[in-house]
This record gives sequence, structure tokens and C-alpha cells, in this order.
Amino acid sequence: MKGVPLTEELYKYITDTFIQEDDLLKQIVADAEAKNIPLIQVSPETGKLLGMFIKMIGAKNVLEIGTLTGYSTIWMARVLPPEGKVTTLELTKAHADEALSNYKKAGLDSRINLILGKAIESLDSLSGSSFDMVFIDADKENCVNYFNKVIDMVRPGGLIITDNTLRRGEVIDPNPGPGAMGIIAYNKLVAADSRVESLLVPIDDGITISIVK
Ligand SMILES: C[S@@+](CC[C@H](N)C(=O)[O-])C[C@H]1O[C@@H](n2cnc3c(N)ncnc32)[C@H](O)[C@@H]1O
Repeated sequence: MKGVPLTEELYKYITDTFIQEDDLLKQIVADAEAKNIPLIQVSPETGKLLGMFIKMIGAKNVLEIGTLTGYSTIWMARVLPPEGKVTTLELTKAHADEALSNYKKAGLDSRINLILGKAIESLDSLSGSSFDMVFIDADKENCVNYFNKVIDMVRPGGLIITDNTLRRGEVIDPNPGPGAMGIIAYNKLVAADSRVESLLVPIDDGITISIVK
């Protein structure tokens, strides 16, 4: 293997050195746990990286597919300029209600537009919109469909970022499940699609970053 094998101790060194998760974000996770909402939000390091991408490309309009309780939305909305907006798509009403309450607690509700429903249908209602960055983090089986819907909505130089693209290692399993198959198809597509330049970065469960040409 080229490079340094990323042991748990080394990964902890990175997160201990660079990551701070404030009390509100910790409370959002604790509240989700108390309400039996699955704890499948991004890691704090992924949240921070999403925010850094927003700053790097000067993003103002961000689209998120898969809200859960708004943890990742808050990492992103916090670093947007005052006129910036996150549009976030969620299927499950209980998740959406919790997210809306969390946006208020964070004082960010005016910057976030949550659309309840199947993401694929919500994306149709957004056709013609323009985004600087799209974060895909919903049902993994639909990642390719989401990419095909959003590719024309992202401006040149904008980013499409997808979470869980290592799928805890299942991407190299000889018998991957449906979610992993969705991710494998997604990685294969964006690695070869000439409209984007892509790389999988092994942070947490992996994120695939695509720059739109
Ligand atoms: C991994 S969680 C999102 C985590 C969130 N991005 C975060 O880091 O805080 C995935 C979310 O996508 C939602 N979801 C699943 N299928 C969906 C669909 N077809 N349309 C919209 N949302 C969907 C789930 O209800 C769940 O809340």
C-alpha cells in the first residue's frame, strides 16, 4: 500500500487535532438518539469538510438530498454568506419535523428551505434551478438517478459530493447489498463521466467529490 495505513489511532489523531463539534450539534445527535431516529448523520469531520468546500468555492446556493435531523444542513448553512441558502430534501416527516426544530434552535431557519417528499420528485420541481454545490446523502440505490437529475443544475466549477461511498468497505465485497451496488454504480459513473472530474476521498465512510466542468 502506498501512503500511510489509516489506523484508528491515526484517525483519532486527525479528529482530536482538527475537529470541534459544538454543544448544539452534540445535542442534535443526542435528541435523535432519544427519539429513536437512526444515527446516520455525517461525521463531524465530514460536516466540517462540507463547510470548507462551501468557503473554497464561494458557494451561495446549496442543495442537500437527505436531511435526517438537519445535522449536515447546519454544518453547511452556518458557513454560508448571509444571502446564502440550503435547499434540503427529505422523505420522512418525523425527520423533517425534527430538522425544522433544529434549524430554529440554530437560528438558521431563514436560510434553509426543506422540501418534504421523495427526492426524485422534489428534484423535478427544482428543475431549472442553479446550485453551487449538491450534497447527496439519501437512499444509496438512487445515487445515480440523483446525479443524472442534478448534473445540469450545478454551475461550472461547482461541486457534487456524495457520502458513504466506501460503504464501510462493501464496495469491494463480491456480493454487495443493494445500497452498496448503488454506490458502486455511482462511483463508476462519476469516475468516467466527462462532465465532471471526480475523486473518492477516504474520510469517515468515504465521500466522492466531483467538480463540474
Ligand atoms: C443518511 S440520512 C441523511 C443524513 C444527513 N445528511 C446528515 O448528515 O445529517 C438519509 C436521509 O434520507 C432520507 N431519505 C431516504 N430515502 C429518501 C428519498 N427517496 N427521498 C428523500 N429522502 C430520503 C431518510 O429518511 C434519511 O433521513
